[in-house]
Amino acid sequence: MSTSIDPISYTAQIVAAKRAIEQSLSVPLFNDPYAATLAGDEVENLLAKWRQVAKRQGRSLEEVITKRTRYIAIRTRFLDDLVLATLPQFSEPQVVILGSGLDTRAYRLPWPPATRFYEVDMPGVLNYKGNALGSIKPNCRHHMIAGDLENFQTGWIARLLKAGLRQESPIIWILEGVVMYLPEPSAHSLLRTVAALSCPGSVLGMDAVKSGSILAAQSAENANRGRVVRHWQFGCDEPQQLLKGYGWSAEVSQPQDIKIAHSRYSEPMPITAEVGGHQQERGVWLIKARKDR
Ligand SMILES: C[S@@+](CC[C@H](N)C(=O)[O-])C[C@H]1O[C@@H](n2cnc3c(N)ncnc32)[C@H](O)[C@@H]1O
Repeated sequence: MSTSIDPISYTAQIVAAKRAIEQSLSVPLFNDPYAATLAGDEVENLLAKWRQVAKRQGRSLEEVITKRTRYIAIRTRFLDDLVLATLPQFSEPQVVILGSGLDTRAYRLPWPPATRFYEVDMPGVLNYKGNALGSIKPNCRHHMIAGDLENFQTGWIARLLKAGLRQESPIIWILEGVVMYLPEPSAHSLLRTVAALSCPGSVLGMDAVKSGSILAAQSAENANRGRVVRHWQFGCDEPQQLLKGYGWSAEVSQPQDIKIAHSRYSEPMPITAEVGGHQQERGVWLIKARKDR
């Protein structure tokens, strides 16, 4: 992506690079044939760093990759599985990915052709993605909607509705790697808006970061490291309660609890970190929810 892109949007390229590198493992958790094209030079940037880490720690590169890509890999697979399990329940599926970045689900999953698929992100990211993928087109009714998720005045909701999103039919929403980048009031406004657009039976897949990890990330920001986590703002310790407040029944897991991830977590969990003189529990939540009212 061009260097003029904002640093939060750039996190999408780092995520794409991790998805691309995951493909080099002997048993990748998902198949993303487009991630390498979208990630560009970022793949080699990460691999160069991880080769150094492997050397320093006396481990194989495969071991380092497995650890450094595991969260993105598990999150991708968890949300792929959620979408694929939900699709047969809807005759004309509608999918909305907020903060879609360089996600390639529209291009790589087997959509019924009547599926209406919407991706919302900053214009720079969506333009980059469209240009990088060139003639590769999704096999569904696909719309890219530019908008700022923190600013409803940018009109992205009106554009979603104009592009055919139907509020009276259930919607599958994905908020993957997104709410943690928003200030707390904006995260709540976004969840409130998503809920208002969703009729009962709608499905939401998302992840969220515990507040101990947000605090630790702020130390990374102060230390000028952590190219992704330094932008995190919104932490959440009770995701079920949070979503219940917006009318969703949520099932919440942690990545190490997901069956397919067991081999990737050998160390004891949860991890704690000392932040401001206190031990804080760090970690992330993987969430699937259904709208019940
Ligand atoms: C870590 S990336 C995740 C991208 C994608 N969901 C994935 O998992 O590959 C975060 C994405 O959220 C988008 N984002 C963050 N804040 C946003 C905002 N206020 N409005 C629109 N997009 C935003 C960024 O541009 C970026 O593409």
